[in-house]
Amino acid sequence: MAFSALSLILFCFIFISFAISDAVVPPADTFRYINQGDFGELDSEYAPTYRPLPPYTFPFQLCFYNTTPGVYTLSLRMGTRRDEAVMPWVWDANRGNPVGENATFSLASDGNLVLADGDGRIAWQTNTANKGVVGFAILSTGNIVLRDSKGGFVWQSFDSPTDTLLFGQSLRIRGPTKLVSRASTTNNVNGAYSFVIEPKRLGLYYKNMLYWASTFPAYPELNQPNVTIVNATFDIVETEYNNDFNAIRCHLSNSNAQPYLDMDILRFNNTLSYIRLGIDGNLRLYSYRPPNIRFSQWSLVFRLFDNRETTRQGLYEDECQLPERCGKFGLCEDSQCVGCPSPEGVFAWSKNCNVKTPSCKAGGSRYYQLKGVDHFTSKYSAGTGPMKQKDCESKCTKDCKCMGYFYRTDLSRCWIANELKTLTRVGNSTHLAYIKTPIQ
Ligand SMILES: *[C@@H]1O[C@H](CO)[C@@H](O)[C@H](O)[C@H]1NC(C)=O
Ligand SMILES: *[C@@H]1O[C@H](CO)[C@@H](O)[C@H](O)[C@H]1NC(C)=O
Ligand SMILES: *[C@@H]1O[C@H](CO)[C@@H](O)[C@H](O)[C@H]1NC(C)=O
Ligand SMILES: *[C@@H]1O[C@H](CO)[C@@H](O)[C@H](O)[C@H]1NC(C)=O
Ligand SMILES: *[C@@H]1O[C@H](CO)[C@@H](O)[C@H](O)[C@H]1NC(C)=O
Repeated sequence: MAFSALSLILFCFIFISFAISDAVVPPADTFRYINQGDFGELDSEYAPTYRPLPPYTFPFQLCFYNTTPGVYTLSLRMGTRRDEAVMPWVWDANRGNPVGENATFSLASDGNLVLADGDGRIAWQTNTANKGVVGFAILSTGNIVLRDSKGGFVWQSFDSPTDTLLFGQSLRIRGPTKLVSRASTTNNVNGAYSFVIEPKRLGLYYKNMLYWASTFPAYPELNQPNVTIVNATFDIVETEYNNDFNAIRCHLSNSNAQPYLDMDILRFNNTLSYIRLGIDGNLRLYSYRPPNIRFSQWSLVFRLFDNRETTRQGLYEDECQLPERCGKFGLCEDSQCVGCPSPEGVFAWSKNCNVKTPSCKAGGSRYYQLKGVDHFTSKYSAGTGPMKQKDCESKCTKDCKCMGYFYRTDLSRCWIANELKTLTRVGNSTHLAYIKTPIQ
């Protein structure tokens, strides 16, 4: 009995292995594209040169593109050929690991999707060799998928977002957990900002510093210890008044509540919308304005940090809350950079406004005070304390990386800042900033 049960198990194992390894991509569906030849002529985001590849499902097309000659990203572009809108890049295969001329993008019969340099170096791959892949497709949602024989997805691009969420795409606690900004228009490497799903909130970070977090006051369920966010999806929230709106909708564990981030009224065609974590750390939603309108384009429907006066209070954050709104250093008020603080007083702001790097020697630095000023981390993190101001100061003094500290006299709380960047004027004299400066 034992023997025959084992044989049966062995037989099944062999049969299953055989069935899996037997699944191959039919020859007609394999491909190998080479990055060479003429460039495309339409306008794309970041004004690159690019070479479109054959895989295309309206309105998505795979392309090699570069913003620096010879430095290519394989990317998915969203656009329609006819109109003259600048087409956005909505997914990158190989950000930070570019390929050159003659790079190849291929799907072999083993089902592995591979981006390799001209010399054969693999820059990116799906690691799906012999995992049952029978076909490749770009779906009409913009999800690039490798399918098995049952139609399931062995791999999907929706699971590896860069800085963009397409309609229907999700962040999940079990991954992918974040969008990461691009460093600059010309340099396609990870930037300093990330939009992150966490068990109790959605957060925006500059490096490891939180500068915004979702608050869902209408959803007390989230306060229960057994309730956490499972995923956050770019979705439509329907209302009974015919004014549906764009949202990032969260699904929770142990609760049917669905907290969401309201991203403004639905306009135009939502399947052609995307949410982008920008180079500047702002979160924006763009929707396509249809071609019957002149100068059709993706128009900005929502931005989280905005300078608008709005009746929908609480939804928008002031631009001053963006860490680099005032560049390297500056005092910000009502979305404007209004001053350049210095030990000698506050001067007019310019792009050159900067801090003097404090000395690391004991006794080499002192502090100057700014009244009614917050750091970009003050609003969404509680700081430490309660503690005395002199203890907050000595924490900063002992820490060479500390550029200044922020103290609230009403709460006796302390924030240590390793980067100062944008300081926000809050007009409340209980909020104090102490900027470290070298003793000359
Ligand atoms: C690309 O390949 C072509 C022909 O195969 C060759 O002439 C050219 O030098 C290659 N370019 C680079 C940059 O390797
Ligand atoms: C999000 O989570 C919910 C609840 O666990 C689940 O039903 C749903 O399928 C998930 N959606 C996505 C897109 O992952
Ligand atoms: C979660 O906790 C609440 C009370 O805190 C309880 O009523 C509920 O039954 C719990 N749910 C699960 C699935 O454990
Ligand atoms: C939105 O765009 C998609 C894809 O282009 C198209 O299939 C759909 O019909 C459009 N919907 C509307 C309401 O225009
Ligand atoms: C300053 O902040 C404290 C504590 O948050 C608050 O009670 C007070 O009303 C604020 N004062 C002004 C002028 O905003």
